Amino acid sequence: MRKQIIGGNWKMNLGSPQEAQEFVEKLIPKIKDLNNVDIVIAPPFTVLYEASKIIKGTNINLSGQNMYFEDKGAFTGDISPIFLKDVGCNYVILGHSERRNIFGETDELINKKLKKAFFIGLNPIVCIGEQLEEREQGKTEEIIDYQLKNTFKDLSKEEIIKTIIAYEPVWAIGTGKTATPEQAEEVHKFIREYINKTYGLDTAEKVRIQYGGSIKPNNAEDLFNQPNIDGGLVGGASLNIDSFYEILKAANEVSK
Ligand code: PGA
Repeated sequence: MRKQIIGGNWKMNLGSPQEAQEFVEKLIPKIKDLNNVDIVIAPPFTVLYEASKIIKGTNINLSGQNMYFEDKGAFTGDISPIFLKDVGCNYVILGHSERRNIFGETDELINKKLKKAFFIGLNPIVCIGEQLEEREQGKTEEIIDYQLKNTFKDLSKEEIIKTIIAYEPVWAIGTGKTATPEQAEEVHKFIREYINKTYGLDTAEKVRIQYGGSIKPNNAEDLFNQPNIDGGLVGGASLNIDSFYEILKAANEVSK
């Protein structure tokens, strides 16, 4: 049985210490009894320290939104995995479609970051997903297969089991157009089948695959109840305490 996992990806929002602190302080008491779901928040770098002090001893995990693959040095504007660890993160999001499409990150670069995350001891949430044109041209599986082969290149069984794969169709992110539960499940099943072919059934059954793209309280339950969907990566709806809580509650109530 796989435990559902929900990530709140704040993106470039709530980055001032006061607003982040207020948000997390309100969130903690609301979600303290949700024990059937792993909860992760990914605030901007500027407020990770603030958040980490407040969540100590709670059921909330802390994630960076990105990192570089070197420990330190002349990499202006980037962030070291060691800094993330030191500030209290135990997760990191890698290869988000905004990193891929706006900042030009490649599968090869993301693969290097992924290996580094394992080395440092950060649990990676790694995003993959097709663009709208690719879906319309019937290329979704081809694209996903390519990303799986290259982003997850040379990972051991132990590493792939620790990886949280986030399937995020790019056309559904921030657009209000959620994939239907059936559309999402079809790709999740394809991803699990790829892991089965590459690592065996035992491993495939352990890997958690999140869905991401316009998850809202009104579609969360149907998505999470799909056999191969193990939670979600939530952007917009994670910035509102009530909607994030409703989504967490939906995941907490799933039993498959
Ligand atoms: P969204 O973002 O929920 O606002 O669509 C999801 C994501 O980018 O992880």
